[in-house]
Amino acid sequence: MSDEPRLVVTRIIPEPALDLLREAGDLWVSDRDAPLAPADLHQAVRGATAVLTLLHDRVDSEFLDAAGPQLRCVANVAVGYDNIDVAAASSRGVLVTNTPRVLTEATADLTFGLILMLTRRLGEGERVIRSQTPWSWHMFYMLGTGLQDKALGIVGLGAIGQAVARRARAFGMRITYADAQRADAALEGELEVAFVGLDELLATADVLCLHCPLTEDTRHLIDAERLRQMKPTAFLVNTARGPIVDEAALAEALRERRIAGAALDVYEREPEVHPGLLELDNAVLVPHLGSATLETRTAMAVLAARNAIAASSGQPPLTPVNPEVLAGGG
Ligand code: DGY
Repeated sequence: MSDEPRLVVTRIIPEPALDLLREAGDLWVSDRDAPLAPADLHQAVRGATAVLTLLHDRVDSEFLDAAGPQLRCVANVAVGYDNIDVAAASSRGVLVTNTPRVLTEATADLTFGLILMLTRRLGEGERVIRSQTPWSWHMFYMLGTGLQDKALGIVGLGAIGQAVARRARAFGMRITYADAQRADAALEGELEVAFVGLDELLATADVLCLHCPLTEDTRHLIDAERLRQMKPTAFLVNTARGPIVDEAALAEALRERRIAGAALDVYEREPEVHPGLLELDNAVLVPHLGSATLETRTAMAVLAARNAIAASSGQPPLTPVNPEVLAGGG
């Protein structure tokens, strides 16, 4: 039996990452243009030294048992890792890695694109043109909301929240944020952001952006009750993870115009979208495009490949999620 590491990639990723993996070991890449069903995923990872997973792959005890005790690393090609049971991996001595930093700017750009689509009604405007609906320019036609002097509320001032804050300053917005942990004074000063509690953030934001990870604490963080705390003129933008928002409650709030609009890049039961959202003009809906530039996706895949290769040869990976495994903990 060869002592080359067996490297598994669960769905096609950019070629530069595959080149690195090919050089480093015995590579298997799924050729299906769809997520692997759990049984096929478990079959594919059997005997793997490292697996590159995508955000739709569930990595739980069953997955880890199917892979076997030689598994060293699950390298998620995403910054979010809510698809992985990290405790289960750590308890088996399996490293988990993610792809922070490389997708920060792309995701912040997309967030700002959505803010502009929402507040300037760009999707709605495009639908008028494409459907050949008669229109004529007049002073009150399809008025939107300007951003200057408006309040941006950021939930989660991590790297992406910070990058959104930098963009918002260029648009002349006032910025407040809520987070489980307050940023240090130097960062608050640099970004010109004020720390407030979630209740105040909800009550004051003209645009509320979600940039927190999905955890048991943030699941349905924005539910019917919290939507009621927002201003009727406010907009909600979610480019983080779908289940942070109760989609049914959001659809109802938008239909009843209890908030002005919402833009979603992510969904509670991806790729499904709550049917109540589809018919609403005040909902902007795009298919999980936050990191979707060729440069960013390539950088994510290369970082994940480097993590997998390092871990497979007993080296510390670049961006571990559970570094305690390296010290023999877990
Ligand atoms: C991530 O990396 O977590 C993103 O959602 C992928 O775009």
